[in-house]
Amino acid sequence: MGQQFGRRSWAEPWKIKMVEPLTMTSRAQRERALAEAGCNTFLLRSDDVYIDLLTDSGTSAMSDRQWAGMMVGDESYAGSRNFYHLEAAIQRYYGYRHVVPTHQGRGAEHLISRVAIRPGQWVPGNMYFTTTRAHQEQAGGQFIDVIIDEAHDPSSPHPFKGNIDLAKLEALIAREGAEGIAYVSVAGTVNMAGGQPVSMTNIKAVRALCDRHGIKVYLDATRMAENAFFIQEREEGYANRPIAEILREFCSYTDAAWMSAKKDSLVNIGGWLAVNDLGLFEELRNLVVLYEGLHTYGGLAGRDMEAMAIGIEESLQDDYMRSRIGQVRYLGELLADWDIPIVQPVGGHAVFLDARAFYPHLPQAHFPAQVLAAELYLDSGIRAMERGIASAGRDPATGDHHYPRLELTRLTIPRRVYTQAHMDVVAESVKCVWDARGAARGLHMVYEPRYLRFFQARFEWRDRSTGSRTGQEAASHPHPAAEPAPV
Ligand code: F0G
Repeated sequence: MGQQFGRRSWAEPWKIKMVEPLTMTSRAQRERALAEAGCNTFLLRSDDVYIDLLTDSGTSAMSDRQWAGMMVGDESYAGSRNFYHLEAAIQRYYGYRHVVPTHQGRGAEHLISRVAIRPGQWVPGNMYFTTTRAHQEQAGGQFIDVIIDEAHDPSSPHPFKGNIDLAKLEALIAREGAEGIAYVSVAGTVNMAGGQPVSMTNIKAVRALCDRHGIKVYLDATRMAENAFFIQEREEGYANRPIAEILREFCSYTDAAWMSAKKDSLVNIGGWLAVNDLGLFEELRNLVVLYEGLHTYGGLAGRDMEAMAIGIEESLQDDYMRSRIGQVRYLGELLADWDIPIVQPVGGHAVFLDARAFYPHLPQAHFPAQVLAAELYLDSGIRAMERGIASAGRDPATGDHHYPRLELTRLTIPRRVYTQAHMDVVAESVKCVWDARGAARGLHMVYEPRYLRFFQARFEWRDRSTGSRTGQEAASHPHPAAEPAPV
């Protein structure tokens, strides 16, 4: 087989045992549904969606072994045996000493941010993630982006666009001192950059730099198994090392990790924190009782922890990962063959469409990536997600929009759920939307929630000829959107 990806090399190492019917909709139904959803794909009912590429989070198909694991859930309030299975799997595959379960990733982010950030401290990271940054800011921290510049360029072919720029990190340390930095927040693969990996060389160098200054390195391990695949594929010396080993080596250069197990670990709910430092662990284990649940369930049922323990092991099988990334890449290659602008190289969990290149006639304040997600839904019932100005939110200090360089629409591929034929259908729909791109109108936001606005914001179409808000739309929504939100 070798490491070469071709269209014949990555057939899934599983077959289908149970199917779930999909909903087929008409254009008229979709127009109605999108209007009801305020042109926000997060507000659609899943019954109105055909192929759901909103997210890879909690949308995986579990295996028969995981379902069997659900049947041996030990639902004891304290000391569930499934917790010990989970703890052992994390210790074995991720390598950290102490484990605290949480209901999902943001539960873990909340706890680690509260414990590890003092108000006013900086949290440098390889690009922001929405929930991660929100919790860092809630704890009084200030996020600062120290990813390499290539990450902000959709067409840069850099093989490790998730890397931290050591010069940027060093400059921050020189300016603020080690005391002014809570920890370095590293995510593997970087979601908002397009699912782009961090190299082993880079994490080693980050570790060495942080050691010189006594700064901790904490890992968002949410898609770190997928990151390990890219190291195996692209980094010298790793081609013959199993993904599981690469993952463990990478984690060994970090002090702690948090996890949304809803991604890599092939479960529908779950997360954890894992740390090496006993003092930090004791604080986290105490705090989890306040916000999530006792430290041996953290907001999860015993059966969820069992499915997670099994999912961790399945997620690190090389054949599985080859098919996983292969499917995402298959979709990316179909689009690239039609010269449709996508983030290159294709990342781990999704194909990201470059909405700026789709709609150069739309200013960023007209939400081009949201427009693209809406148009795609109207065309075929495929649900994608905005990853641009709406997701970026506002600067807590000034109240202004963040204007990210990347204005992307994410076609996120759930794990073990859709077939290659679905990918063909998706590509053809994107092509139709691409061909009609010149006629697209912008959106304006008519309702803006305070926190993580992209989840619940509502939009309306702008006037086709002038790009301004239509009188009727503005009048029908007396609540303007532009109140500055602190987060
Ligand atoms: N970190 C990363 C890199 C994520 O992508 C997510 C979630 C989280 C943390 C938070 O985890 O959802 O379990 O609370 N990402 C989802 C997505 C929502 O669609 O990308 P969570």
